[in-house]
Amino acid sequence: MKISGTGSVLPKKIVTNDMLAQFLDTSDEWIRTRTGVVSRHVISDERLEDMAIEAARKALDDAGMKAEELDFIICSNVVNEYVTPQLSCIIQGGIGATCPCMDINCACAGFIHALEIAESFYRAERVKNVLIVCAEEPTRMTDWSDRRTCVLFGDGAGAAVLTPGDNIKSIKLSASSATDKLWQYRLLQPTPYIEKEEEDVPLQMKGQDVFKFAVKAASKDISRVLDEAGVGADQVDHYMLHQANIRIINAIQEYLEQPKEKFPTNIEDHGNSSSSCCPILLDECKKKGLLKRGDIIAMSAFGAGFVSGAVLFEW
Ligand code: ACO
Repeated sequence: MKISGTGSVLPKKIVTNDMLAQFLDTSDEWIRTRTGVVSRHVISDERLEDMAIEAARKALDDAGMKAEELDFIICSNVVNEYVTPQLSCIIQGGIGATCPCMDINCACAGFIHALEIAESFYRAERVKNVLIVCAEEPTRMTDWSDRRTCVLFGDGAGAAVLTPGDNIKSIKLSASSATDKLWQYRLLQPTPYIEKEEEDVPLQMKGQDVFKFAVKAASKDISRVLDEAGVGADQVDHYMLHQANIRIINAIQEYLEQPKEKFPTNIEDHGNSSSSCCPILLDECKKKGLLKRGDIIAMSAFGAGFVSGAVLFEW
């Protein structure tokens, strides 16, 4: 398969580090130097499903495709206001598609997991046109009085339309269960029979453990896709990494011994929008005219689980 269209949508409300410092014991200097984030887009009156539908429409327009031509929709999402129905089905109706669809929850690595699922559909010759939408509102997961987590995130939706091609050179996924490092509980409805204690707990994170995992997993995943494709790190034109922390990106860049210019970022004004980071970054790089036909792109992401993955593809 190949990526034939991209689209992205951000909420209109921009929250700067200085705005956070008005109600949190933090500073622009701390957030900027420890994370690379300067501001982020945060959902206010938007609904995530509307943003997802708009991102999907933009990607379809970009690909010159009608929604009726789609054979499958995969939506990556960790949390949204609906428990059911699935977000992909809401998107399907919103854009006027008639194909089957499904949601996946692979945290920040969702786009790469969705690409792997789609690629296997293409290899089985079951689809022609596939839509992937990553739509996330992690700002609704954190406790906004917890300076260790809420400063990191932003919201957004990114989409990609896939068509037949042989542009995917290699994809690798990995999982390594560590459920006490990055987790959140939500309360379900009570029943007359529940006898266990249950709690509503916002996102909890052991930041340094996540940091170490991220650097190790991304370095390994990228090395694996390069090895499988027989491509040297020097031959990659762009490394598009999950936008969780600029220091994580810098550590991976140093490991790969590649110039900074090959690592486009948008963490400065987006923060971490979970699985939406990768397709939003791809869309923005495309719009900036950064991508040339034939460019080799290595994309890598990691997230709660832990799960991670990397993909090497030709633009
Ligand atoms: N402002 C000011 N001080 C702060 C802030 C803040 N926003 N946050 C933490 N601190 C303080 C801490 O309280 C601590 O103070 P103490 O020493 O008095 O206890 C001090 O800063 C150092 O805290 P650390 O946690 O050690 O800081 P660290 O350098 O590790 O940076 C960070 C923290 C930015 C979270 C980093 O660990 C990180 O980026 N980890 C990876 C995060 C990540 O990738 N998350 C992905 C989640 S995506 C998903 O799947 C949902």
